[in-house]
Amino acid sequence: MSIDTARSGRNAEIYLDHAATSFPKPKSVVEEVTRAVVELASPGRGQSRRAARAEAMVQKARETAARFFAVVEPSRLVFTKSATESLNVAIKGFLKTGHRVLTSSMEHNAVARPLTRLARERALEIVRVPCFADGSLDLEALQRALNPPPALAVFVHASNVNGALVATPKVLSMCREAGVPVLLDAAQTAGLLPISVLDYDLGMLACSGHKGLLGPSGIGILYIRSDLQVEPLIEGGTGSHSEQWVQPREMPEAMESGTPNMPGIAGLRAGMECVSAMGLQTLQQHELGLADEVARRLEGIKGVQVHRPSVRGGNAVSFTVNGMAPHDAAMILAEAGIGVRAGLHCAPWAHQTLGTYPMGTVRVSPGWCTTREDVDIFVQTLEAMLMRRRRRHAERAKTA
Ligand code: ALA
Repeated sequence: MSIDTARSGRNAEIYLDHAATSFPKPKSVVEEVTRAVVELASPGRGQSRRAARAEAMVQKARETAARFFAVVEPSRLVFTKSATESLNVAIKGFLKTGHRVLTSSMEHNAVARPLTRLARERALEIVRVPCFADGSLDLEALQRALNPPPALAVFVHASNVNGALVATPKVLSMCREAGVPVLLDAAQTAGLLPISVLDYDLGMLACSGHKGLLGPSGIGILYIRSDLQVEPLIEGGTGSHSEQWVQPREMPEAMESGTPNMPGIAGLRAGMECVSAMGLQTLQQHELGLADEVARRLEGIKGVQVHRPSVRGGNAVSFTVNGMAPHDAAMILAEAGIGVRAGLHCAPWAHQTLGTYPMGTVRVSPGWCTTREDVDIFVQTLEAMLMRRRRRHAERAKTA
Protein backbone atom coordinates (compact mmCIF):
# COMPACT_ATOMS: atom_id res chain seq x y z
CA MET A 1 0.00 0.00 0.00
CA SER A 2 1.29 3.43 -0.81
CA ILE A 3 0.39 6.78 0.67
CA ASP A 4 -1.52 7.54 -2.55
CA THR A 5 -3.80 4.52 -2.27
CA ALA A 6 -4.42 5.34 1.40
CA ARG A 7 -5.72 8.75 0.36
CA SER A 8 -7.83 7.88 -2.62
CA GLY A 9 -10.99 5.98 -3.49
CA ARG A 10 -13.00 4.41 -0.70
CA ASN A 11 -10.23 5.08 1.80
CA ALA A 12 -10.13 8.81 1.10
CA GLU A 13 -9.74 10.53 4.44
CA ILE A 14 -7.41 13.09 5.88
CA TYR A 15 -6.12 11.05 8.77
CA LEU A 16 -5.17 13.24 11.72
CA ASP A 17 -5.09 10.64 14.51
CA HIS A 18 -1.43 9.63 14.56
CA ALA A 19 -1.38 9.84 18.37
CA ALA A 20 -3.67 6.78 18.27
CA THR A 21 -1.72 4.97 15.56
CA SER A 22 0.33 6.01 12.55
CA PHE A 23 -1.33 5.51 9.19
CA PRO A 24 -0.51 4.55 6.52
CA LYS A 25 2.46 2.33 7.30
CA PRO A 26 5.53 2.61 5.08
CA LYS A 27 5.64 0.11 2.20
CA SER A 28 8.69 -1.67 3.63
CA VAL A 29 6.79 -2.30 6.88
CA VAL A 30 3.93 -3.94 4.99
CA GLU A 31 6.44 -6.03 2.99
CA GLU A 32 8.34 -7.20 6.06
CA VAL A 33 5.14 -8.13 7.90
CA THR A 34 4.10 -10.19 4.87
CA ARG A 35 7.54 -11.76 4.52
CA ALA A 36 7.44 -12.88 8.17
CA VAL A 37 4.05 -14.54 7.67
CA VAL A 38 5.04 -16.18 4.40
CA GLU A 39 8.64 -17.19 5.10
CA LEU A 40 9.45 -17.48 8.80
CA ALA A 41 8.87 -20.24 11.39
CA SER A 42 9.13 -20.02 15.19
CA PRO A 43 12.45 -18.62 16.47
CA GLY A 44 14.47 -20.69 18.95
CA ARG A 45 12.05 -23.58 18.64
CA GLY A 46 13.12 -26.06 15.96
CA GLN A 47 15.98 -27.00 13.71
CA SER A 48 14.47 -25.88 10.41
CA ARG A 49 16.12 -23.26 8.23
CA ARG A 50 13.01 -21.13 8.62
CA ALA A 51 13.35 -21.25 12.40
CA ALA A 52 17.01 -20.23 12.11
CA ARG A 53 16.07 -17.29 9.87
CA ALA A 54 13.35 -16.32 12.31
CA GLU A 55 15.86 -16.39 15.17
CA ALA A 56 18.26 -14.21 13.20
CA MET A 57 15.49 -11.73 12.37
CA VAL A 58 14.46 -11.35 16.02
CA GLN A 59 18.08 -10.85 17.05
CA LYS A 60 18.55 -8.17 14.37
CA ALA A 61 15.33 -6.42 15.42
CA ARG A 62 16.49 -6.42 19.04
CA GLU A 63 19.83 -4.93 18.00
CA THR A 64 18.07 -2.29 15.85
CA ALA A 65 15.85 -1.32 18.79
CA ALA A 66 18.84 -1.27 21.15
CA ARG A 67 20.74 1.09 18.82
CA PHE A 68 17.63 3.25 18.44
CA PHE A 69 17.35 3.82 22.20
CA ALA A 70 21.09 3.65 23.03
CA VAL A 71 20.71 0.44 25.02
CA VAL A 72 24.14 -1.12 25.59
CA GLU A 73 22.98 -4.71 26.19
CA PRO A 74 20.29 -5.68 23.62
CA SER A 75 19.22 -8.58 25.86
CA ARG A 76 17.77 -6.02 28.31
CA LEU A 77 15.22 -5.04 25.69
CA VAL A 78 12.18 -7.28 25.31
CA PHE A 79 9.30 -7.41 22.87
CA THR A 80 5.79 -7.17 24.29
CA LYS A 81 2.32 -6.76 22.83
CA SER A 82 2.03 -3.01 23.35
CA ALA A 83 3.11 -0.04 25.45
CA THR A 84 0.25 -0.95 27.79
CA GLU A 85 1.65 -4.45 28.29
CA SER A 86 5.17 -3.05 28.78
CA LEU A 87 3.89 -0.67 31.47
CA ASN A 88 1.92 -3.43 33.19
CA VAL A 89 4.94 -5.76 33.24
CA ALA A 90 7.19 -2.99 34.55
CA ILE A 91 4.77 -1.76 37.23
CA LYS A 92 3.44 -5.11 38.42
CA GLY A 93 6.76 -6.92 38.08
CA PHE A 94 8.83 -4.33 39.94
CA LEU A 95 6.71 -2.80 42.71
CA LYS A 96 6.50 -4.63 46.04
CA THR A 97 4.20 -4.36 49.06
CA GLY A 98 4.47 -1.00 50.80
CA HIS A 99 6.52 0.66 48.04
CA ARG A 100 6.16 4.39 47.53
CA VAL A 101 5.85 5.40 43.87
CA LEU A 102 5.75 8.77 42.13
CA THR A 103 3.73 9.51 39.07
CA SER A 104 2.16 12.59 37.48
CA SER A 105 -1.32 13.99 37.02
CA MET A 106 -0.94 13.70 33.21
CA GLU A 107 -0.75 9.89 32.98
CA HIS A 108 -2.69 7.61 30.66
CA ASN A 109 -4.86 4.83 32.10
CA ALA A 110 -2.12 2.36 31.11
CA VAL A 111 -0.28 3.77 34.15
CA ALA A 112 -3.20 5.00 36.27
CA ARG A 113 -5.11 1.71 36.31
CA PRO A 114 -2.28 -0.72 37.20
CA LEU A 115 -1.06 1.68 39.91
CA THR A 116 -4.56 2.12 41.34
CA ARG A 117 -5.01 -1.64 41.49
CA LEU A 118 -1.63 -2.20 43.14
CA ALA A 119 -2.31 0.56 45.66
CA ARG A 120 -5.17 -1.63 46.89
CA GLU A 121 -3.54 -5.03 46.52
CA ARG A 122 0.02 -4.23 47.64
CA ALA A 123 -0.62 -1.24 49.88
CA LEU A 124 1.42 1.06 47.64
CA GLU A 125 1.68 4.70 48.45
CA ILE A 126 1.10 6.58 45.19
CA VAL A 127 2.22 10.18 45.08
CA ARG A 128 0.67 11.95 42.10
CA VAL A 129 2.91 14.93 41.42
CA PRO A 130 0.66 17.73 40.13
CA CYS A 131 1.04 19.25 36.70
CA PHE A 132 -0.02 22.77 35.75
CA ALA A 133 -2.99 23.47 33.47
CA ASP A 134 -0.70 23.34 30.40
CA GLY A 135 0.46 19.82 31.32
CA SER A 136 3.95 20.69 32.61
CA LEU A 137 5.10 19.07 35.84
CA ASP A 138 5.39 21.18 39.00
CA LEU A 139 9.13 20.89 39.72
CA GLU A 140 8.85 22.16 43.30
CA ALA A 141 6.27 19.50 44.07
CA LEU A 142 8.53 16.92 42.42
CA GLN A 143 11.50 18.04 44.55
CA ARG A 144 9.42 17.58 47.72
CA ALA A 145 8.07 14.21 46.56
CA LEU A 146 11.59 12.88 45.92
CA ASN A 147 12.35 13.04 49.64
CA PRO A 148 12.38 10.35 50.91
CA PRO A 149 13.27 8.69 47.60
CA PRO A 150 10.44 6.50 46.26
CA ALA A 151 11.05 3.01 44.86
CA LEU A 152 10.09 4.16 41.36
CA ALA A 153 8.90 7.18 39.38
CA VAL A 154 6.55 6.50 36.47
CA PHE A 155 6.21 9.40 34.08
CA VAL A 156 4.67 9.88 30.66
CA HIS A 157 7.27 11.39 28.34
CA ALA A 158 4.73 13.52 26.43
CA SER A 159 0.98 13.67 26.88
CA ASN A 160 -1.31 11.82 24.47
CA VAL A 161 -3.91 14.55 25.11
CA ASN A 162 -2.17 17.85 24.37
CA GLY A 163 1.41 16.85 23.52
CA ALA A 164 2.91 18.49 26.65
CA LEU A 165 6.45 17.37 27.42
CA VAL A 166 5.97 16.06 30.97
CA ALA A 167 9.19 14.15 31.64
CA THR A 168 11.57 16.93 30.60
CA PRO A 169 15.35 16.42 30.81
CA LYS A 170 15.17 18.42 34.09
CA VAL A 171 12.54 16.04 35.56
CA LEU A 172 14.66 13.04 34.56
CA SER A 173 17.85 14.54 35.99
CA MET A 174 16.12 15.39 39.30
CA CYS A 175 15.06 11.75 39.64
CA ARG A 176 18.53 10.55 38.67
CA GLU A 177 20.19 12.80 41.26
CA ALA A 178 17.81 11.47 43.92
CA GLY A 179 18.77 7.91 42.92
CA VAL A 180 15.20 7.09 41.83
CA PRO A 181 14.73 4.76 38.84
CA VAL A 182 12.36 6.17 36.23
CA LEU A 183 9.95 4.13 34.15
CA LEU A 184 9.38 6.33 31.09
CA ASP A 185 6.15 5.91 29.11
CA ALA A 186 7.34 6.84 25.63
CA ALA A 187 4.20 5.71 23.78
CA GLN A 188 3.82 9.16 22.23
CA THR A 189 7.47 10.06 21.73
CA ALA A 190 9.30 6.96 20.45
CA GLY A 191 10.14 7.77 16.84
CA LEU A 192 9.58 11.48 17.42
CA LEU A 193 12.03 12.60 20.13
CA PRO A 194 15.54 11.26 20.61
CA ILE A 195 15.50 8.92 23.62
CA SER A 196 18.79 7.71 25.01
CA VAL A 197 18.40 5.20 27.82
CA LEU A 198 22.10 5.71 28.47
CA ASP A 199 22.08 9.52 28.68
CA TYR A 200 18.94 9.65 30.81
CA ASP A 201 20.02 6.58 32.81
CA LEU A 202 16.44 5.32 32.58
CA GLY A 203 15.39 2.48 34.85
CA MET A 204 12.81 1.25 32.37
CA LEU A 205 11.42 2.40 29.04
CA ALA A 206 8.04 1.38 27.62
CA CYS A 207 6.74 2.16 24.16
CA SER A 208 4.47 0.85 21.47
CA GLY A 209 5.63 -0.11 18.00
CA HIS A 210 2.65 1.14 16.00
CA LYS A 211 2.77 4.88 16.61
CA GLY A 212 5.90 6.94 15.87
CA LEU A 213 7.98 3.81 15.18
CA LEU A 214 5.65 3.12 12.21
CA GLY A 215 5.33 -0.62 12.87
CA PRO A 216 2.14 -2.69 12.92
CA SER A 217 -0.12 -2.96 15.96
CA GLY A 218 0.40 -5.78 18.47
CA ILE A 219 4.05 -5.08 19.20
CA GLY A 220 5.71 -3.07 21.96
CA ILE A 221 9.08 -2.64 23.63
CA LEU A 222 10.20 -2.78 27.26
CA TYR A 223 13.74 -1.98 28.36
CA ILE A 224 14.82 -2.95 31.88
CA ARG A 225 18.12 -1.72 33.38
CA SER A 226 20.31 -4.57 34.57
CA ASP A 227 20.20 -3.60 38.26
CA LEU A 228 16.39 -3.74 38.40
CA GLN A 229 14.63 -6.98 39.24
CA VAL A 230 11.34 -7.32 37.38
CA GLU A 231 9.20 -10.45 37.70
CA PRO A 232 7.54 -11.63 34.48
CA LEU A 233 3.75 -11.45 34.22
CA ILE A 234 3.64 -14.41 31.84
CA GLU A 235 5.62 -17.64 32.24
CA GLY A 236 5.93 -20.56 29.86
CA GLY A 237 7.99 -21.91 27.00
CA THR A 238 11.04 -19.87 26.13
CA GLY A 239 12.75 -22.32 23.79
CA SER A 240 15.53 -22.56 26.40
CA HIS A 241 16.16 -24.50 29.67
CA SER A 242 13.23 -26.77 28.83
CA GLU A 243 14.34 -29.23 31.54
CA GLN A 244 13.30 -26.70 34.20
CA TRP A 245 9.73 -26.11 35.27
CA VAL A 246 10.56 -22.74 36.69
CA GLN A 247 10.92 -19.67 34.52
CA PRO A 248 14.57 -19.00 33.48
CA ARG A 249 16.06 -15.76 34.83
CA GLU A 250 18.10 -14.94 31.72
CA MET A 251 17.06 -11.98 29.65
CA PRO A 252 15.38 -11.64 27.26
CA GLU A 253 13.78 -15.13 27.56
CA ALA A 254 12.62 -14.49 31.13
CA MET A 255 10.16 -11.90 29.82
CA GLU A 256 9.29 -13.42 26.43
CA SER A 257 7.40 -16.67 26.97
CA GLY A 258 5.42 -18.11 24.09
CA THR A 259 5.93 -17.89 20.34
CA PRO A 260 6.78 -14.30 19.56
CA ASN A 261 4.83 -12.00 17.26
CA MET A 262 7.08 -12.47 14.24
CA PRO A 263 5.13 -10.20 11.81
CA GLY A 264 5.03 -7.55 14.52
CA ILE A 265 8.74 -7.75 15.27
CA ALA A 266 9.68 -7.78 11.56
CA GLY A 267 7.39 -4.82 10.85
CA LEU A 268 8.67 -2.91 13.85
CA ARG A 269 12.25 -3.34 12.71
CA ALA A 270 11.34 -2.06 9.24
CA GLY A 271 9.49 0.86 10.85
CA MET A 272 12.48 1.83 12.99
CA GLU A 273 14.68 1.65 9.92
CA CYS A 274 12.29 3.99 8.08
CA VAL A 275 12.38 6.43 10.98
CA SER A 276 16.18 6.35 11.00
CA ALA A 277 16.32 6.79 7.22
CA MET A 278 13.92 9.76 7.30
CA GLY A 279 15.82 11.14 10.31
CA LEU A 280 14.42 11.61 13.79
CA GLN A 281 15.17 15.32 13.71
CA THR A 282 13.35 15.75 10.39
CA LEU A 283 10.31 13.87 11.70
CA GLN A 284 10.34 15.83 14.92
CA GLN A 285 10.46 19.16 13.09
CA HIS A 286 7.79 18.05 10.65
CA GLU A 287 5.27 16.61 13.15
CA LEU A 288 5.77 19.03 16.03
CA GLY A 289 5.94 21.94 13.57
CA LEU A 290 2.59 20.93 12.06
CA ALA A 291 1.09 20.42 15.53
CA ASP A 292 2.17 23.94 16.52
CA GLU A 293 0.75 25.29 13.29
CA VAL A 294 -2.59 23.54 13.91
CA ALA A 295 -2.68 24.99 17.45
CA ARG A 296 -1.83 28.50 16.22
CA ARG A 297 -4.47 28.44 13.53
CA LEU A 298 -7.13 27.02 15.84
CA GLU A 299 -6.40 29.81 18.30
CA GLY A 300 -7.40 32.26 15.59
CA ILE A 301 -10.88 30.75 15.21
CA LYS A 302 -13.72 32.37 17.15
CA GLY A 303 -15.34 30.01 19.66
CA VAL A 304 -12.42 27.56 19.72
CA GLN A 305 -10.24 27.03 22.78
CA VAL A 306 -6.88 25.32 22.42
CA HIS A 307 -5.42 23.46 25.44
CA ARG A 308 -1.87 24.13 24.43
CA PRO A 309 1.32 23.06 26.24
CA SER A 310 4.11 25.54 26.89
CA VAL A 311 6.70 22.90 25.94
CA ARG A 312 5.62 20.48 23.23
CA GLY A 313 6.99 16.93 23.09
CA GLY A 314 4.22 15.10 21.25
CA ASN A 315 2.09 15.63 18.16
CA ALA A 316 -1.31 15.88 19.93
CA VAL A 317 -3.30 19.12 19.77
CA SER A 318 -6.44 19.31 21.90
CA PHE A 319 -9.23 21.82 21.48
CA THR A 320 -12.82 22.46 22.50
CA VAL A 321 -15.56 24.35 20.71
CA ASN A 322 -17.73 26.59 22.89
CA GLY A 323 -21.17 25.05 23.37
CA MET A 324 -20.40 21.91 21.37
CA ALA A 325 -19.67 18.39 22.67
CA PRO A 326 -16.26 17.14 21.45
CA HIS A 327 -17.82 13.96 20.07
CA ASP A 328 -20.30 15.96 17.99
CA ALA A 329 -17.50 18.09 16.52
CA ALA A 330 -15.46 14.96 15.72
CA MET A 331 -18.43 13.27 14.07
CA ILE A 332 -19.06 16.26 11.82
CA LEU A 333 -15.36 16.32 10.88
CA ALA A 334 -15.51 12.56 10.20
CA GLU A 335 -18.47 13.05 7.87
CA ALA A 336 -16.40 15.64 6.02
CA GLY A 337 -13.58 13.09 5.63
CA ILE A 338 -11.29 14.21 8.46
CA GLY A 339 -10.28 11.62 11.04
CA VAL A 340 -9.60 12.87 14.57
CA ARG A 341 -10.28 11.52 18.09
CA ALA A 342 -12.62 13.05 20.68
CA GLY A 343 -13.34 12.38 24.34
CA LEU A 344 -11.04 11.52 27.23
CA HIS A 345 -8.39 9.66 25.20
CA CYS A 346 -8.05 7.02 27.99
CA ALA A 347 -6.43 9.74 30.10
CA PRO A 348 -8.98 11.12 32.60
CA TRP A 349 -6.24 12.39 34.96
CA ALA A 350 -4.77 14.47 32.14
CA HIS A 351 -8.16 15.95 31.31
CA GLN A 352 -8.72 16.83 34.98
CA THR A 353 -5.37 18.61 34.91
CA LEU A 354 -6.17 20.51 31.72
CA GLY A 355 -9.65 21.39 33.01
CA THR A 356 -11.41 19.45 30.25
CA TYR A 357 -12.89 16.62 32.35
CA PRO A 358 -15.42 14.97 31.92
CA MET A 359 -16.36 15.99 28.35
CA GLY A 360 -12.81 15.84 27.04
CA THR A 361 -11.56 17.50 23.89
CA VAL A 362 -11.22 17.04 20.16
CA ARG A 363 -7.69 15.84 19.44
CA VAL A 364 -5.86 16.40 16.16
CA SER A 365 -2.49 14.70 15.72
CA PRO A 366 -0.44 15.03 12.53
CA GLY A 367 2.03 12.35 11.56
CA TRP A 368 4.94 11.45 9.33
CA CYS A 369 2.97 11.82 6.09
CA THR A 370 0.64 14.70 7.03
CA THR A 371 1.01 17.67 4.69
CA ARG A 372 0.40 21.42 5.05
CA GLU A 373 -2.49 20.93 2.63
CA ASP A 374 -4.08 18.43 5.05
CA VAL A 375 -3.82 21.04 7.80
CA ASP A 376 -5.35 23.69 5.51
CA ILE A 377 -8.29 21.44 4.64
CA PHE A 378 -8.85 20.54 8.29
CA VAL A 379 -8.85 24.21 9.41
CA GLN A 380 -11.09 25.29 6.51
CA THR A 381 -13.54 22.44 7.21
CA LEU A 382 -13.73 23.37 10.89
CA GLU A 383 -14.22 27.04 10.05
CA ALA A 384 -16.99 26.20 7.57
CA MET A 385 -18.65 23.94 10.14
CA LEU A 386 -18.61 26.69 12.77
CA MET A 387 -19.84 29.26 10.27
CA ARG A 388 -22.85 27.04 9.38
CA ARG A 389 -23.56 26.57 13.08
CA ARG A 390 -23.44 30.33 13.76
CA ARG A 391 -25.80 30.94 10.82
CA ARG A 392 -28.25 28.33 12.11
CA HIS A 393 -28.18 29.89 15.58
CA ALA A 394 -28.74 33.35 14.12
CA GLU A 395 -31.70 32.12 12.03
CA ARG A 396 -33.23 30.39 15.05
CA ALA A 397 -32.81 33.56 17.12
CA LYS A 398 -34.57 35.57 14.37
CA THR A 399 -37.57 33.21 14.15
CA ALA A 400 -37.87 32.76 17.94
N1 ALA B 1 -3.46 5.90 23.68
C1 ALA B 1 -3.81 6.05 22.32
C2 ALA B 1 -4.47 7.38 22.06
O1 ALA B 1 -4.14 8.31 22.72
C3 ALA B 1 -4.53 4.90 21.76
O2 ALA B 1 -5.31 7.49 21.20
